[in-house]
Amino acid sequence: MLDGVLVVTGGASGIGLACAKAMVAAHDQVALIDVNEDGLAAAAAQIDEAGGAASTFVGDVADADAMVALATRIESEVGPVRTLVTSAGILQNAATVLDMDLDEYARVWDVNYHGTVYTVRAFAPAMTERARGAIITIGSINSYGALPLPAYCPGKTAILRLTQILAVELGRFGIRVNGVAPGYVLTPALKARIESGDRNADMIRGAGAVDMFLYPENIADVAAFLCSDKAAAVSGTMMPVDAGWEAATLYRNYAGGVPWDTDAS
Ligand SMILES: NC(=O)c1ccc[n+]([C@@H]2O[C@H](COP(=O)([O-])OP(=O)(O)OC[C@H]3O[C@@H](n4cnc5c(N)ncnc54)[C@H](O)[C@@H]3O)[C@@H](O)[C@H]2O)c1
Repeated sequence: MLDGVLVVTGGASGIGLACAKAMVAAHDQVALIDVNEDGLAAAAAQIDEAGGAASTFVGDVADADAMVALATRIESEVGPVRTLVTSAGILQNAATVLDMDLDEYARVWDVNYHGTVYTVRAFAPAMTERARGAIITIGSINSYGALPLPAYCPGKTAILRLTQILAVELGRFGIRVNGVAPGYVLTPALKARIESGDRNADMIRGAGAVDMFLYPENIADVAAFLCSDKAAAVSGTMMPVDAGWEAATLYRNYAGGVPWDTDAS
């Protein structure tokens, strides 16, 4: 038991909701923040069904003042925050830097990167006073390499660096900061893009070292470990949870070919 409150941004869906479910038993309360009010109600019902207690808060992580107000409210109305997961985020479809829509560019940065900064700035001060806690950021395979997503990809790379910076800043106060870097995860956001033809499900499934689809629970299990006392010595990491996608992508592009594809024996 970790005690205290688990706060999850983007908690109404996908990876955020799965993190809330995976960690509910270890916390006294769960506070879910999201822009999607209906989604929050459905998510809270799932947490309650799982035997936990969830409070919901409508809020936009891209609004720094709103996040400070929510942090104050949650600390006083729900309880002391022990664990923070910053999962609010939006995806982007393939584009070039020269052609991308600048409004979308700004919004992806506002939500994914600035939203993470604003959330940590709002919640971490009270956590530092208590000198305990853990924070999880959400990176991506985009944190490690170039994909044709000119707002999303650099934003996720920035989250990798932010995670390391925060680990050092907040480590002085006994708070650990780690990230998870998922591959393609079958969340509502990704499923919608598969259905619209913006992602190819066959390429997603066949691209990792291990032949599998990733589900939100796969990411949440790693996040839960990183927040637990079992990971007491782990901070400043960004853990790939990609079924070996990053390793396999480089390996399969070796100019001499993949041994078991070229060796007739
Ligand atoms: N699905 C994937 O393949 C994948 C892969 C790597 C990383 N990620 C990251 O995981 C995180 C969660 O994505 P997901 O796939 O679970 O998506 P999702 O759409 O299922 O969940 C994201 C949630 O964030 C909420 N949200 C969006 N903008 C918000 C804002 N401004 N303020 C508050 N809440 C907001 C949405 O309403 C939604 O409930 C994102 O950071 C995403 O970049 C996803």
